[in-house]
Amino acid sequence: MSYLPKPHGGKLIQAFDPNYDLSTIEKEIEIDAIALSDLELIGIGLFSPLKGFLGQKDYESVVNTMRLADNTIWSIPVTLPISFDVAETLVVGEEYKLSFKNEVYGVIRVSEWYEPDLDKEALEVYKTEELAHPGVKRLYERGPVYVAGEIVLVKKSEKGVFGDVWFEPKETRAIFEEKGWKTVVGFQTRNPIHRAHEYIQKAALETVDGLFVNPLVGETKSDDVPAEVRLKSYRVLLDNYYPSERVQLGVYPAAMRYAGPREAVFHALARKNFGCTHFIVGRDHAGVGNYYGTYDAQYIFSNFTEEELGIKPLFFEHSFYCTKCEGMASDKTCPHGKEDRVILSGTKVREMLRSGVLPPSTFSRKEVVEVLIEGMKETASV
Ligand code: ADX
Repeated sequence: MSYLPKPHGGKLIQAFDPNYDLSTIEKEIEIDAIALSDLELIGIGLFSPLKGFLGQKDYESVVNTMRLADNTIWSIPVTLPISFDVAETLVVGEEYKLSFKNEVYGVIRVSEWYEPDLDKEALEVYKTEELAHPGVKRLYERGPVYVAGEIVLVKKSEKGVFGDVWFEPKETRAIFEEKGWKTVVGFQTRNPIHRAHEYIQKAALETVDGLFVNPLVGETKSDDVPAEVRLKSYRVLLDNYYPSERVQLGVYPAAMRYAGPREAVFHALARKNFGCTHFIVGRDHAGVGNYYGTYDAQYIFSNFTEEELGIKPLFFEHSFYCTKCEGMASDKTCPHGKEDRVILSGTKVREMLRSGVLPPSTFSRKEVVEVLIEGMKETASV
C-alpha cells in the first residue's frame, strides 16, 4: 500500500509514445522553449490532470477562478501561443506535429484556437499589467492566439548535465516508496540554496520522513544564476551538509512564471504529482520585485481545502541568521533587532559574487559560495 498522495485529478497522465505514427501528419507548428517544456511535462504527467494545452473554457475558468472547468484546482494557464497567421491555417480535429529547432517532439490534435484576453490574464494571474514584470513581459511577447488540444509526446528533450537528477513523477514516486518514506516535503527554488533555505528545509525535515530538493531548471530571467551553476552548488551543499538517506535531489524542469501566489499553488500541485505529501512555502514564494506581499503566497492556500489540494503546504516566516541568537531564526523565534540580523538581497549577493567578494558563512555555506564564484567567472567568459 502506498502512503503517497494520488496524482492531481486522480490519475498520472502518461502521454509519451516514441513510436507514434508521424508519417501521415504533414503539417507542423513551431513551438518555443517554454512550450517545449510544457509539452514534455504534460506528457510525463507532471501537470496531471492536463492532457494537453488548455481550451478556452478551461483557460477562462483558470484565469477567473483558479480551477479547471470541472472544478479541479489549477492556478496557472498552460497554453500554446501561436500567431494569427498560423492560426488561420489550422483545421480543427486534425493532428499537427509540434517542432522545436527542426525536431519533432510532439503531436497536437487541434480542438480549437482562440484569442485570449491578455490584459485580464496579466491582472488575474500576475496581479499586474506592467511589462517590467518578467512573467507579464513574456505573456505579451509570446503570441496573440492560443491553440488547444490533447498532445502526445513523441520525443523527450536532451537532459545534458541534469541527466542523473531528471526524474519523471513515476520515477520519484518509486524512489520515495523504495526509501520507505511515508511523508516527503518538496522544496522549490530558482536560486542557490542559502542558509535561510537550508534552515526551513531542515526544520520541515524534522517532522517528515524525507526531503525532496527540487530546484527549477526551466527558463528563468537572465539575471538569475544559471541552472548548471546552481546544480553544482546543490550537489556540493547536499554532499557536505545533508544526510543522504533522508534527502533526494531532483530537478523541476518547468519554466519560471514569477506569478507569486498563483505559482505557489501550481508548484505545490506539481510536487504532489511527484509524490510529495508536503510543500514548503516561505517568504515571497515565486515572487519578483515588489509585486506581491511577503506572505501572499501563503494566504492564497486558504482558498482551498486540504482535501482538494491533496498536499499540505508548510508555511515559514522570513528567516535569517541572528548574531545574538548565534543561529538561524525568524521573527517568530528571535526577539532581537534588525541590526543583529544578516539579511542580504539577491541583487546584493549577485553584486558581491561578481566582484569576487565572499558573502559571509552566516548567509551562505563556504562550499556553495566557491562554486558560485567559479560559475560566475565561467558564464561571464562565455
Ligand atoms: S522561488 O522563486 O523559487 O520561490 P527562492 O529560490 O528564493 O525563490 O525561494 C525558494 C523557497 O524558499 C520559497 O518557498 C521561498 O518562499 C523560500 N524562502 C526564500 N528565502 C527565504 C527566507 N529568507 N526565509 C524564509 N523563506 C524563504
